Amino acid sequence: MPRSAVAISLPPVELAAVSAQLAEAGYEPLEIATADALEELLNTRRDIGVAILDGENDFDKTLEMYALLHEEDRNIPALMVVAARALDRMSLAGRARVNDEYFTRPYSAESLRWRVEAMLIRAEVPPDDMSSGIMESDSQIDSSPEARRGQIVIVFNPKGGVGKTTIAVNVAALLQVRKGQRVLLVDCDTVTGHVASSLGMENVRTVADAWTEALSTGVVESFAEIAATHHNGVSVLVMAESPLHTEILDPKRVAEAITAARRAYDWVVVDMHPDYGPLNQVIFERADKIIVPVTPDVPAIRAAVQFREVAVELDIRERLAMVVNRANSGVSVSDMERTVGMPALAEVRSAGMLFVRAANEGRSAVERFPKEKVIDDIESLCNRLIATRDPGVAKTGSGFMGIFGGGRNTNPSVRAS
Ligand SMILES: Nc1ncnc2c1ncn2[C@@H]1O[C@H](COP(=O)(O)OP(=O)(O)OP(=O)(O)O)[C@@H](O)[C@H]1O
Ligand SMILES: [Mg+2]
Repeated sequence: MPRSAVAISLPPVELAAVSAQLAEAGYEPLEIATADALEELLNTRRDIGVAILDGENDFDKTLEMYALLHEEDRNIPALMVVAARALDRMSLAGRARVNDEYFTRPYSAESLRWRVEAMLIRAEVPPDDMSSGIMESDSQIDSSPEARRGQIVIVFNPKGGVGKTTIAVNVAALLQVRKGQRVLLVDCDTVTGHVASSLGMENVRTVADAWTEALSTGVVESFAEIAATHHNGVSVLVMAESPLHTEILDPKRVAEAITAARRAYDWVVVDMHPDYGPLNQVIFERADKIIVPVTPDVPAIRAAVQFREVAVELDIRERLAMVVNRANSGVSVSDMERTVGMPALAEVRSAGMLFVRAANEGRSAVERFPKEKVIDDIESLCNRLIATRDPGVAKTGSGFMGIFGGGRNTNPSVRAS
């Protein structure tokens, strides 16, 4: 029994693949060749949940179709393919309607299916609940737990230089580009953060800027509105440009805003500064998953062991998962799991200068070196994240460690809530 129909205007080969995926997911795919055909369809059917449009090949036709979707009291979200370069310009030209989404070629039919699903779920959330420039109070956030809930994944190890930023940037890019997910990448490292600069984004407006402006204008923006869009589609948000002007970043308010951003994104990936300060502590609390990159060297391993102990105290231990970075250095992963006392979610091999070269060009390695083996590693990591994506994971304590612990290395008595 179809849950909803999806109108599709794509070239034949893509149409066939996307239609097959959507049909498998229980949606009714409806081919639309012309704007007139779409108009007729909209006049006869009330169950069109999303329209997939091709803004790359025939922009005029797409514009006409887009107008029909939003005519009068209609507001059917569009999922539109655009040229990668156009994404950048669109973000400059003003904000998209909250419900519309964009993707770039190449894409997989399967990733579109997930996006359609996410859009249909989001469409059921009343518009007032979406991040809309109105400050969301605690009570509003808590009162709608059924709302679409993205996952908060933070990347942390108290040791510097272990690959936190590299993994955060590339996981975010891969989830967005290859998995068709909506991703907000947050640079919470207000001291040495370089997420934006490694993506070639200079002088971005920061949260500190926006919140300072709000003191005089009274206009409070959501994180989705403050963020800038990278040409790979990831929304990038920087907390502050200078470590000297962070007083306005009240930790609790930052944590609330990150939590609220789960409504507009499938994934909120947070790169952290290596410290245990108040900002990091409140963010730990909100995280669904905490990726701990560990390189196979004694200082990084010691730091991870220390973090595991801190995590027990903070009652967040079951959310931790190690990513062995520069994994092909001769140290066995199972030895590292035993020593650190955390399951390894994935391994990322040493990639020589690839990450540095990609950053020098303002891109993630996912876009710059898509065929390299290290990107397969990042993809495996993302697949594990997706496979364990479960709104209850962080709260129940039954998911993450349960799946990866496997009795090999972890101490099951640590947490039983
Ligand atoms: N798997 C890898 N292969 C090759 N180079 C890597 C790998 N992981 C990280 N690097 C490089 O190591 C350096 C440090 O990485 P990164 O900046 O991501 O660490 P970090 O943990 O964020 O550091 P900090 O604590 O200072 O923020 C960077 O130059 C990065 O390109
Ligand atoms: Mg870093």
